[in-house]
Amino acid sequence: MATQRRSPRCQRRAGGPRSTRRAPTTTRSRRTWNGAFRGERFGTRCFSAMSKEDMVSHQVDVDLGDRSYPIYIGEDLITRGDLLTKHIHGKQVLIVTNETIAPIYLEKLTRVIQESDPSLQVESVILRDGEQHKTTQELMKVWDKAMELRFNRKATFVALGGGVIGDMTGFAASAFQRGVYFIQVPTTVMAMVDSSVGGKTGVNHPLGKNMIGAFYQPQCVLVDSLTLKSLPNRETASGVSEIIKYGLIWDADLFRWLEENIESLVDSDHPEFGRAISSAIERSCAIKAEVVAQDEKEGGIRAFLNLGHTFGHAVETYSGYGTYLHGEAIGVGLTMAADLSHRLGWVTEDIKDRTIALVKRSKLPTTPPESMTPDDFLELMAVDKKNVDGNLRLVLLRGELGTCVVTSDFEKGKLMDVLNTHCKTMG
Ligand SMILES: NC(=O)c1ccc[n+]([C@@H]2O[C@H](COP(=O)([O-])OP(=O)(O)OC[C@H]3O[C@@H](n4cnc5c(N)ncnc54)[C@H](O)[C@@H]3O)[C@@H](O)[C@H]2O)c1
Ligand SMILES: [Zn+2]
Repeated sequence: MATQRRSPRCQRRAGGPRSTRRAPTTTRSRRTWNGAFRGERFGTRCFSAMSKEDMVSHQVDVDLGDRSYPIYIGEDLITRGDLLTKHIHGKQVLIVTNETIAPIYLEKLTRVIQESDPSLQVESVILRDGEQHKTTQELMKVWDKAMELRFNRKATFVALGGGVIGDMTGFAASAFQRGVYFIQVPTTVMAMVDSSVGGKTGVNHPLGKNMIGAFYQPQCVLVDSLTLKSLPNRETASGVSEIIKYGLIWDADLFRWLEENIESLVDSDHPEFGRAISSAIERSCAIKAEVVAQDEKEGGIRAFLNLGHTFGHAVETYSGYGTYLHGEAIGVGLTMAADLSHRLGWVTEDIKDRTIALVKRSKLPTTPPESMTPDDFLELMAVDKKNVDGNLRLVLLRGELGTCVVTSDFEKGKLMDVLNTHCKTMG
């Protein structure tokens, strides 16, 4: 059975079940972003009128009942200690970061929290940097520190960093004393648009990525877009791959906007970078919040977020952690997924070509490692978490731009055609 979501526009034209899509966000103003994104259309709250220093440009609410939380988005929010302390419940705070980010932002974050509430005990632990250190051994350092400091069940762990730190801190918080509070301060595009939203936390196992983990939601997410100024452009582009994915699976307007603005998104020195990336982060968070609110534990449509990821994870695993950044592997995956969707006759050649062009313009790779064979792909894709009873399930584009399906019901010969076309080595 295929899980399919029809685009809202389709549903409206057909008089379809619009009410089945729960809007997770409310709208308070009609501020226009870059002439392209409007709060009322994209369901985000605009806070310019109510924030005390006019720094929180937008708030997206993730609607999960009693586990709901806000995502604050704006410039220089890392200095807004008040936003953080209102989500800190006890008196003990442990900031978890890594050796790259600590020299840039740790002192500042510690100071603003402390100044906002002098009664707090604010401590930190610095982990080694890199996907290869997303391990249970490294995670122990967080628990060791919390134990040494005699942190109690009302403690709050704050993740300051990219997706690796966010995933590890969330998992550490989920298990310490069976669950303490947790706040995300993401500092990469990848973490801002994807990993900090939705509650998937965990670490890698030597035999598989993200295999040990938990669903655990934070108290809030604080996105300071100015922290991206210190992020290397290669990392920025990696995160942009997920934004392209949101356009493809959910939002044709976002995709078209990306086609007009992509160069300003992947170069932090571009004069329009700040404005463009803030708009893209805001829209991406709203989409992910909407998907997660409808399907928190990935029983259905949350799998759409894996577009390009079955091919991409195969590339990542084959090449070893760090050779292809996650988003770079997704660039390859989006290319192959778009090609397969077209070969199956599910999308037009135009959609396929535009997808690949956008990936290329983002300076992301579109081809797998030279030595990787179709058999390597098949073997690695066979262990994908989406597979059911040994059947390969893929997220593929189908229909209008912005619409996709997750299904195992596709011609396997076409998959082989795609693998044979994209692999330089035939094995
Ligand atoms: N939980 C989820 O739903 C989810 C979704 C997507 C990805 N992920 C996970 O996220 C991880 C990838 O995240 P990532 O791409 O953020 O990688 P990352 O956390 O490794 O960060 C990338 C690099 O940038 C550095 N860095 C971070 N912020 C910086 C800044 N502001 N200035 C300078 N350097 C900075 C980091 O130290 C690191 O070297 C993977 O482990 C992936 O599995 C999780
Ligand atoms: Zn991803």
